[in-house]
Amino acid sequence: MRMYDIIMEKRNDGELSKEEIDFFIEGYTKGDIPDYQVSALMMAIYFRKMTDRETLALTMAMANSGDMLDLSEINGIKVDKHSTGGVGDKTSLALTPMVAACGIPVAKMSGRGLGHTGGTIDKLESFPGFSTALTRAQFISNVNRVGIAIMGQTADLAPADKKLYALRDVTATVDNMSLIASSIMSKKLAAGADAIVLDVKTGSGAFMKAEADAKALAEEMVRLGWNAGRNTVAVISDMDQPLGYAVGNALEVKEAIETLKGNGPEDFVELCLTLGSRMLIAGGKAADTEEAFRKLREVIEDGSALKKFADFVEAQGGDPRAVYDTGLLPEAPIIHEVKSPAEGYISHIACDEVGICSLILGGGRETKESDIDLSVGIVLRKKVGDYVKKGDSLAVIHANCAQKLAEAEKRYLNACTIAAEEPVRRPLIRGIITV
Ligand code: URA
Repeated sequence: MRMYDIIMEKRNDGELSKEEIDFFIEGYTKGDIPDYQVSALMMAIYFRKMTDRETLALTMAMANSGDMLDLSEINGIKVDKHSTGGVGDKTSLALTPMVAACGIPVAKMSGRGLGHTGGTIDKLESFPGFSTALTRAQFISNVNRVGIAIMGQTADLAPADKKLYALRDVTATVDNMSLIASSIMSKKLAAGADAIVLDVKTGSGAFMKAEADAKALAEEMVRLGWNAGRNTVAVISDMDQPLGYAVGNALEVKEAIETLKGNGPEDFVELCLTLGSRMLIAGGKAADTEEAFRKLREVIEDGSALKKFADFVEAQGGDPRAVYDTGLLPEAPIIHEVKSPAEGYISHIACDEVGICSLILGGGRETKESDIDLSVGIVLRKKVGDYVKKGDSLAVIHANCAQKLAEAEKRYLNACTIAAEEPVRRPLIRGIITV
């Protein structure tokens, strides 16, 4: 088999066989096939697209390119959750202790943030001492003992995707539906869960801005999951404005803790209950959404979800006292109110711009090597549909430097549109794709 022929076949709109896909993934992972040939193939795929059969073959080849995590030593049905990423998306922080308190074992591999969306690991590192550098044995034993363990993605998890994603990133070939679906699902399949709940975001802060694209991506990933033998469901949720109010690592941790105490923002609670209910049903802990919602609300009301979170933080070396006293989390030296320049309804908040404000303040990474400041970020006071008077507080910026604060404030003001007419509110949950 020759890589040249594979490129030519795709360029001419042919369908690649499983053997051809296995050949190029194996050759690329080993370093036998050079970047320039794979770049050419990615561009051919970008224009010619892939059939369902090709997408499944690519997903499985990438999932099998490294270790397939074996979670069989963990008791119970393991249900993983994945979000396509968004601004203020602290869902994993609140959701994992909620479902774990309902008896679902959570064995999760998470990533760090890059660009304007934050990563769960960065957020968790707001707890002094917290570490995600667990051995496989510690990971398994923590899940069996505490109910939750979260570790960083190992280099051996779908290494073909790691190489390919980095190449796509610099060759303008990221935004192809089949390539995105296979990239995400290869990592989820390799991470070993029995069932997968996907949160596919749509709107100005999401990867898939158009709802039709988010739906198509969700359908493709759900199909891939089932074809690979995993119970998979996707929730399509709104990311046209930040989720909840807090954007920034430690600020989001505080909001997640408030949610576990029963004081969460309405939209964030709705998303946690919706995703959590799907996890409980997939994990055999609830027969239907009504029972699942009830159980999830109960673990908040009786404090067991909060306790589960504290136990998890402690098991991974973090200071659990910070769960009960959030003053122990990192705090920024400058706290500044952003005042409304006009009166009217907030009709739009450019969500990706809010993420960029947090990035400017030092809360996100420009490159993989950037250091981040866990304390900084922005807490919205008003969201879309709220009415403001001139001089009312629109948001509070937490900063470590006056110059960055000024830049972020200017950008935030530009991101908010204030209009005389009340806007039509977008529902948070846009759809659920089951098969
Ligand atoms: N996230 C991924 O993991 N892969 C993609 O291709 C896009 C988003």
